[in-house]
Amino acid sequence: MRVLVVGSGGREHALAWKLAQSARLTELFVAPGNGGTAKVATNLACDITDNEAVVALARAHQIDFVVVGPDAQVVQGLGDAVRAAGIDCFCPSAAAGQLEGSKSFTKALCDEMGIPTAAYRRFETLHPAIEYVRGHKLPVVIKADGLALGKGVTVATTLNDAIHAVTDCFGGTFGAAGASVVIEDFLEGEEASFFVLCDGETYLPLATAQDHKRAFDGDMGPNTGGMGAYSPAPVMTPELVQRTLSEIIEPTVRGMKARGTPYQGVLYAGLMLTASGPQLIEYNARFGDPETQVLMPRLKSDLLELLLATATGKLAGVEAEWRDETALTVVMATNGYPGSYGKGSEIRGADTLDGDDLIVFHAGTKREGEQLLANGGRVLNVTALGPSVAAAKQTADEAVSQIDWPEGFHRNDIGWREVLRELNARLDR
Ligand code: AMP
Ligand code: GLY
Repeated sequence: MRVLVVGSGGREHALAWKLAQSARLTELFVAPGNGGTAKVATNLACDITDNEAVVALARAHQIDFVVVGPDAQVVQGLGDAVRAAGIDCFCPSAAAGQLEGSKSFTKALCDEMGIPTAAYRRFETLHPAIEYVRGHKLPVVIKADGLALGKGVTVATTLNDAIHAVTDCFGGTFGAAGASVVIEDFLEGEEASFFVLCDGETYLPLATAQDHKRAFDGDMGPNTGGMGAYSPAPVMTPELVQRTLSEIIEPTVRGMKARGTPYQGVLYAGLMLTASGPQLIEYNARFGDPETQVLMPRLKSDLLELLLATATGKLAGVEAEWRDETALTVVMATNGYPGSYGKGSEIRGADTLDGDDLIVFHAGTKREGEQLLANGGRVLNVTALGPSVAAAKQTADEAVSQIDWPEGFHRNDIGWREVLRELNARLDR
């Protein structure tokens, strides 16, 4: 089977790395890919914001199956375009992708299906939104309704911040994504991510993870796409997984089918584990980045079989097998990220680290001859496996310290919540 992965991040390198191990695979391509995907697949230049360009590329390379990575391509309907060309595609329809693309769509589905989530109101004009915020208790959460590349959410702890956030949204800071605004109650608890494959009717739980969105140690600094992650997340106990499946995932799958927009793809639930149980913060209609970089090394099953079964409605009876070890990834990013940053600095020592319990996934890199160059904000994902979070962290941290890249930075405390819990459990014994 000839497979094309669409995207160029660490997520796509991790997917390509795992797909490359499939017995069903004959040839693997990534469009446009990066310096890491070039090691496991053939990179193909392509403007992936253009559905027809991707379809033409797939035809030209006689692709049997397209796997779409990023949210923007889900929302732009790439899956629909590829399927219309008669090619199987792992990507929800644009209609089902609204679970990620529209906060108010998901909130309405939660209302309809009784799915636990923060109480909210949606506004289309500034003044009623500001009036509402004035009467709301703090903190209050302000969200641009549409897809704002992870930047459209403000947790406001003062009325001033809340009014600023609402004004920014309607003022066009997030473009069309902020034309309407969702204002919701603040949920207290620990966050966790949960991944499920869904073929429209049947779902297959994959795994749990926890990521770190702030740029700097101690969860300080600006929000990023994610500076590190680990899986599994033991805070998601088997009981919480069961509740998430029955109270959140199952009604979502049922509701989407009933609406005539069955969800086919990977459903990534962002959860708040509150005192009263798991609540849905948001859905993503794609794999997480960097969560995928910790899911793939743990997956024992054939990824191509799983994604094909999902895309063709054949998940019933399929199971996924996982390694028991913890996987942990540390993101190395260019100085300045998530703000403005330079490109083209050289990275030394990243190519010789891969081993049984260590993989360096690439995000924003490119190769020029023998040189590996930084070509984006998030650049490398140094990923380790180990018997505990602390052990995996140590292996990853040691590998990071061997990479010579003065223009980059990383966090030193990925997985700190769990490292603390592991330590406390040892002290209790
Ligand atoms: P989202 O893009 O919806 O995942 O929001 C980004 C981040 O904002 C989440 O990962 C949470 O840390 C935080 N957040 C969003 N909604 C809430 C909420 N209702 N209560 C508390 N924190 C929230
Ligand atoms: N790591 C967060 C995301 O993929 O949205």
